[in-house]
Amino acid sequence: MQPMKQPKRYLITSALPYANGLKHIGHLAGAYLPADTYVRYLRAQKRDVVYVCGSDEHGAAITIQAMKEKTTPKEIVDKYHEILKSNMGDLGISFDIYHRTSSPIHHETAKEFFTALNDKGELEIKETEQFYDEEAKTFLADRYIVGTCPVCANENAYGDQCERCGTSLSPEQLINPRSTLSGNPPIKKQTKHWYLPLNKHEEFLKNWVLAEHREDWKTNVLGQCKSWLDAGLQPRAVTRDLDWGIKVPLTDAQGKVLYVWFDAPIGYISATKQWALDNNKDWQPYWNDKDTKLVHFIGKDNIVFHCIIFPVMLKLHGNILPDNVPANEFMNLEGDKMSTSRGWSIEMQDYIDDFVKKENGGDMLIDSLRYYLTTIAPENKDSEFTWKGFQDAVNSELVAIFGNFINRTWVLMHKLCKGKVPVLHADVFDNADKELFAAIESSKSKIENLLEEYRFRDALFEVIDLARKGNKYMQDKQPWIVAKQTNDDRQPTTEAQKSIDNCLHVCLQLTANLAIFINPFLPFTAKKMLNMMKVVDKMLEWENAGKSKLLSVGYSLREPQLLFRKIEDAEVAAQIEKLKERSKKMETNKPSTNNLTATVATLKPTIQFDDFAKIDLRTGIILSAEKVAKADKLLKLEVDLGFEKRTIVSGIALHYQPEDIIGKQVVIVANLAPRKMKGIESNGMILMAEDKDGKLHFVSPENQIDGGSGVS
Ligand code: 2FM
Ligand code: ZN
Repeated sequence: MQPMKQPKRYLITSALPYANGLKHIGHLAGAYLPADTYVRYLRAQKRDVVYVCGSDEHGAAITIQAMKEKTTPKEIVDKYHEILKSNMGDLGISFDIYHRTSSPIHHETAKEFFTALNDKGELEIKETEQFYDEEAKTFLADRYIVGTCPVCANENAYGDQCERCGTSLSPEQLINPRSTLSGNPPIKKQTKHWYLPLNKHEEFLKNWVLAEHREDWKTNVLGQCKSWLDAGLQPRAVTRDLDWGIKVPLTDAQGKVLYVWFDAPIGYISATKQWALDNNKDWQPYWNDKDTKLVHFIGKDNIVFHCIIFPVMLKLHGNILPDNVPANEFMNLEGDKMSTSRGWSIEMQDYIDDFVKKENGGDMLIDSLRYYLTTIAPENKDSEFTWKGFQDAVNSELVAIFGNFINRTWVLMHKLCKGKVPVLHADVFDNADKELFAAIESSKSKIENLLEEYRFRDALFEVIDLARKGNKYMQDKQPWIVAKQTNDDRQPTTEAQKSIDNCLHVCLQLTANLAIFINPFLPFTAKKMLNMMKVVDKMLEWENAGKSKLLSVGYSLREPQLLFRKIEDAEVAAQIEKLKERSKKMETNKPSTNNLTATVATLKPTIQFDDFAKIDLRTGIILSAEKVAKADKLLKLEVDLGFEKRTIVSGIALHYQPEDIIGKQVVIVANLAPRKMKGIESNGMILMAEDKDGKLHFVSPENQIDGGSGVS
């Protein structure tokens, strides 16, 4: 590997979460935990680093939530800003500043940015027709309009993004658009907006992203950038007709605000300014000096904004560009997409309430979560959180490997070495001792390189692997057996004591190293280990890693502390139950459409009879039904069509118990192409009607008729 040139300073950012609701552990794993790990590592390296984040408080995400909660946007952002800030703090995310985009300094910074680009002639004004709700008398920007996603057919995709597949959209791309205010199909109306002509910067972007970053950017990030650039870029409106946001600083822009995605990333700059003010520092080099390494940690749905749009803005404004954007994919939960609105999620707040705050010493459970989330981080592809997986990772890795090694070392050191760091006897220093010291030394560069490459999963694996080697070493040396070789005074013989001393000496030096290595990942654990070793924070500096003389001979150490506890089966079962209950409640409480005012979904466009005739509908009888493992919403059904039996996987498990639907007559789409769900091939689809509460009902013939009968 090429030795890396070290930048003079680092500016690390995590995506500013919308202050419109609680955020789940998928968000934590995507944009906050990896950034925090990286920053803690950089701090341990004594590098100049500032880690900024804050609440994204503008845009339709906020005003729509205010309508839902029947309050003002200001109340919403004030409430959720505080919750998010405290949730992140509780989980050990160590921002240097957690700022907010409603602050005056941010408004000024964003206005200055817009004015600078406009004054340079880098923005274009266009009069276009945009969607307008005649009943609500307002233009329908972004989330004020919903419709069917052209990519994944989600019927409730927003005008700026489909939350199901993550595709970034414009309102014109939606099929069957409808207003979220009235539920009506919108009309088109003339309006004027300011645009960033991305098309003019394609060459720059191609050179910058695709030529410069081929080696060090993640393939998922490069892939998305490439497909945007291949498709050709269009001018993007950077203003909106809304009354919540940063007023466009021009006299001929009454009633217009900056587009939330224009102002939000500038939030990284205003947060840096505020941090500098608070700490008597100069913010400018962090954004203007080329020797700053700017790294944006985000989820995959934010890639286009951080790799295409914001870099163009930064270039035009004369700032530095990001060095890397290590975006993560998504984390699923127990077989389904994580989603707060569908109740299928674990909010950070839930975890804090159920685990961290519930018991004394709950901070060990913060590290347990941080551990599992890092081991399953969706670094290259979507990953999956399961409560059973969490339990296994904690019990069989953290407790059984890492915690066990340290606990055994401490107990034996107190029992066999009088609670002090024993001498290392050169005359009995053997190959096993030497090998373990060598493993400690080589771990340093391995872990370091992986962290520098944003490969947090692999880096953490190396740390655990080192603890595993410690366990094996201890198991081979068996000091508790050696201690049975006693002299007349019933004390271990001199030779036995020498062997014990060497073993515990090596294990203690390994423990000190493990504290340094684990610190970026599990900071609460590292702190406890420092306490047990009676040493100060300084020991955790990275330059100490890999060394075998961190603890001085004769130094007396404290009693062991419990680092981790097992996760019980009952806790896992309770969490799964809670998840199901909540999702069921949300399913049954959800309005019949995504609209704020309940309306019937708008009709799809007219189709010709020939299109309908292609669908082969048949009657069938459900012969058997069973739950699908790891998929709480799915049932696997055997359906008798008279002429054949079919396996059909249907998403009705939250509405029907398997035993209640045996013998039920149903209508199925019999010629639907097979589709695999949870590894089971589904051959057809059962027709269901959805009532206003979101409950599903079978569509059945009035009287029992033969299976396989045609329906038309
Ligand atoms: O997707 C989101 O949640 C946005 N609020 C992220 C903004 S990141 C940055 F640009 F501020
Ligand atoms: Zn979609």
